[in-house]
Amino acid sequence: MRKKVSIVGAGNVGATAAHWIAAKELADVVLVDVVEGVPQGKALDLLEAMPIAKCDVHVAGANDYAATANSDIVVITAGIPRKPGMSRDDLLQTNFKIMSDVVQKVVAQSPESILIIVSNPLDAMAQAAYRQAGFNRERVIGMAGVLDSARFRTFIAAELNVSVENVTAFVLGGHGDTMVPLARYSTVAGIPITELIAPARLEELVQRTRDGGAEIVKYLKTGSAYYAPSAAAVEMVEGILKDKKKILPCAAFLQGEYGIDGFYIGVPCKLGAAGLEQIIEIKLTPEEDAALKKSAAAVKELCAVIGV
Ligand code: LAC
Repeated sequence: MRKKVSIVGAGNVGATAAHWIAAKELADVVLVDVVEGVPQGKALDLLEAMPIAKCDVHVAGANDYAATANSDIVVITAGIPRKPGMSRDDLLQTNFKIMSDVVQKVVAQSPESILIIVSNPLDAMAQAAYRQAGFNRERVIGMAGVLDSARFRTFIAAELNVSVENVTAFVLGGHGDTMVPLARYSTVAGIPITELIAPARLEELVQRTRDGGAEIVKYLKTGSAYYAPSAAAVEMVEGILKDKKKILPCAAFLQGEYGIDGFYIGVPCKLGAAGLEQIIEIKLTPEEDAALKKSAAAVKELCAVIGV
């Protein structure tokens, strides 16, 4: 039997995630949204592309969560996106209300599922989902590090004129202005980028990574990025469905790792069939550690506002 992935939110991120999942033939997909007709229409359109894509997966759209029953994974993208000038944190109250409602409905239909949270502000929304779901931390994981490191990898590859495949990059911390791109652990074919790019230029690439989401919002004006965010969520889906034991930067609920307790923050995670199978602790310099703690403090502040 094929695996089943439901995606809540049939906006740009949700629909594009459905596209990536179907095109990679990873699972049957159910797209859910409150807007009548939109999930149904997008799902049918995508389904009709499958003969051309040569993929045998089913894609369905619904307004009712009954259609999501017994999903292996549920990707939650529901919420309002940013407009120019808004920070991710400005979305807090609205998206918290949406997240609480969605998670309750998702869990009722798929009590054994693994949740991947994509809505912003990412780390606080992952924390809200974790509290609402009552699942163990293995089954509630936040996307964002994969996206932020993909942006960093893009900029590094362009800078050095090398294949994006050769570039690995680590970005830790919250998905916000305090994120921590770790140049020391970012490499090109195994060579640390600190050997290849001058410090001042590297700092520019790091800053562009931090501002990566805002750079897209500024262009689009009416919404935020979706190709890379959805591709990032689907890399996590793939890691879990194929039990790849893949190490990816994700938002996880820390219980003392990195000296942080009781909060979601981006750290290296091993993803496999059980979801979050391990948090990898790497040694940080005092500056990196301070940056991560600062990022955690920012997440903690948001969580306090919504009481999660
Ligand atoms: C971004 C938004 C989606 O980083 O958080 O593009």
